[in-house]
Amino acid sequence: MKKQRLDLHLYTNEYCNIHCKHCYNDSGDARFKKEIPLENINSIIQELYEAYDLDIHIEGGEIFLRPKIFNTLAILDKEILQCMTITSNGTIFMDTPDVQYVLKHIENFRISVEGHTNELNSVLRDCDVLKVLNNAEKYQKMGANIVLRITLHRGNIQTLIRDTLPALANRGFHNFQIYELQSVGRGDGLDYCIREEKDFNDFIDTLIEYLPTRMNVKLMFNKSRVKSINLRKNELIKAEIQVEEIEPNLSLSIKSDGGVNICPWDTFGDVLFNIHHENNLVKRLNQFNLLHDCEHCSKIKMKVGKTC
Ligand SMILES: C[S@@+](CC[C@H](N)C(=O)[O-])C[C@H]1O[C@@H](n2cnc3c(N)ncnc32)[C@H](O)[C@@H]1O
Ligand code: SF4
Repeated sequence: MKKQRLDLHLYTNEYCNIHCKHCYNDSGDARFKKEIPLENINSIIQELYEAYDLDIHIEGGEIFLRPKIFNTLAILDKEILQCMTITSNGTIFMDTPDVQYVLKHIENFRISVEGHTNELNSVLRDCDVLKVLNNAEKYQKMGANIVLRITLHRGNIQTLIRDTLPALANRGFHNFQIYELQSVGRGDGLDYCIREEKDFNDFIDTLIEYLPTRMNVKLMFNKSRVKSINLRKNELIKAEIQVEEIEPNLSLSIKSDGGVNICPWDTFGDVLFNIHHENNLVKRLNQFNLLHDCEHCSKIKMKVGKTC
């Protein structure tokens, strides 16, 4: 029987070395050392991989504050690593053999930046973007498939397509994923959310006019943008930008304290159960409907080039 697709978000550790204004996970304080024990990480992944067609997202906090995870992940089969995306803030460079092995074998290594200059980046993100880009270059040379992950918000809506993407492409990066800022966690109530539909429509104008088709760019939006994007679908397609609605998938999110939720954005909601109290994860999951659709999850995708 064909396995059902499951999007897994595994929050291996909550803590982080920086404190971004928008962090939906409310990470940053190293006093709270919540983390999934190393001995549980591969067994969770392996059990779910056998039961589902798994898309694995390893998130934090910041994974490079916990480098032993790479020794653990390096034991997994290559086919499992091929289904994995790791996301990092890129502030830490490490090139131990395990880091090299894992980064070379996973599908995507996403590094987050919010602009190509410190002025743009620091609107939300509290680190030196030039150092992050240097590290990203070194990881790229190491053989990692680097994807720069950018949050679209009011502070970069004018510059992201026209200035930031070309500047990053000139530095040798060609894969980008753009997600709109969500009002979740520390992002809730932030003045940088794009509230006016007119501003979003202006952004689509810029996309149509300037998005270079030689790059691989994926832009993900929640259901509140479906109508505006669909109204411009013909213009977008003419500009070689593909538009695709996303069917709801099964979704599972495992937090650093072992709490299980369905939605990855739902960092403070009620947990279904805790993995530390279960000895058969898949059997327990069968008691829930994991099919997920909400106001924050991506509902429509635009892309140019290859999917990244
Ligand atoms: C929670 S972080 C964890 C990984 C790593 N610390 C990092 O920043 O890349 C994962 C991604 O979520 C993004 N993110 C955090 N809060 C967000 C929000 N409120 N809306 C949209 N994206 C958000 C970050 O910019 C980052 O790209
Ligand atoms: S977005 Fe990432 S880097 Fe920023 S505080 Fe959250 S976990 Fe840390």
